[in-house]
Amino acid sequence: MKVATSILSVKDDLKKCIDELNNTDTDYIHLDIMDGEFVENKTWHMDDLLPVLEDNNKPLDVHLMVNDVMNYINEFSFLNPSYITFHYEAVDDVNEMIDYVKKLGIKVGLAIKPSTKYEEILPYLPKLDEVLVMSVNPGMGGQEFMLSTVEKINNLKDYKVNNGLDFIINVDGGINNETGLLCKEAGAHMLVSASYIHKDIKNNIEILKNLWG
Ligand code: DX5
Ligand code: ZN
Repeated sequence: MKVATSILSVKDDLKKCIDELNNTDTDYIHLDIMDGEFVENKTWHMDDLLPVLEDNNKPLDVHLMVNDVMNYINEFSFLNPSYITFHYEAVDDVNEMIDYVKKLGIKVGLAIKPSTKYEEILPYLPKLDEVLVMSVNPGMGGQEFMLSTVEKINNLKDYKVNNGLDFIINVDGGINNETGLLCKEAGAHMLVSASYIHKDIKNNIEILKNLWG
């Protein structure tokens, strides 16, 4: 249904890429924010992103891969994103952080690493707008989709349906036409992709969106 294009793999002109994405059917631009602590790599500061996003009309989906979650929420809420997603593994008080994002009027997502069992986040699901299921270890683009993700999506979907909950299931890492189809069949509502989409932006966004027919 929904496609979020990550700009993590864009090496040269970011602004040009954002302009290009604004002329596609991508539903969101997915911003991967890394602090060099929660994951090894570091990505942009607000100062880098503000000029790049100046003319952007696409809704933003912010994925925080950071330890100091609250600080980054404060910083990136300034971009007025549709979603802010933080990692379950990065915070002590998950409820507090969920409430913090919600109070800012921003939809909240909780991301889980491939090694985190979905059962661990069950208590938080009623409060969430999104679960971001990582299908690679967070930290860099271009990795291979982990097949164990499919069962996790399926379990989350069953739990959601059985309990009448509202969150969407988003999947991030190693998504292409084939792995995207597996995710869709398992119950995903949204897919994040960088490497695959940037090979042929317009076409590959359409292919992913059309997986839902
Ligand atoms: C990985 C990021 C992903 C990444 C996806 O830590 O969260 O959003 O950019 O890149 P691909 O599609 O190349 O796996
Ligand atoms: Zn991401």
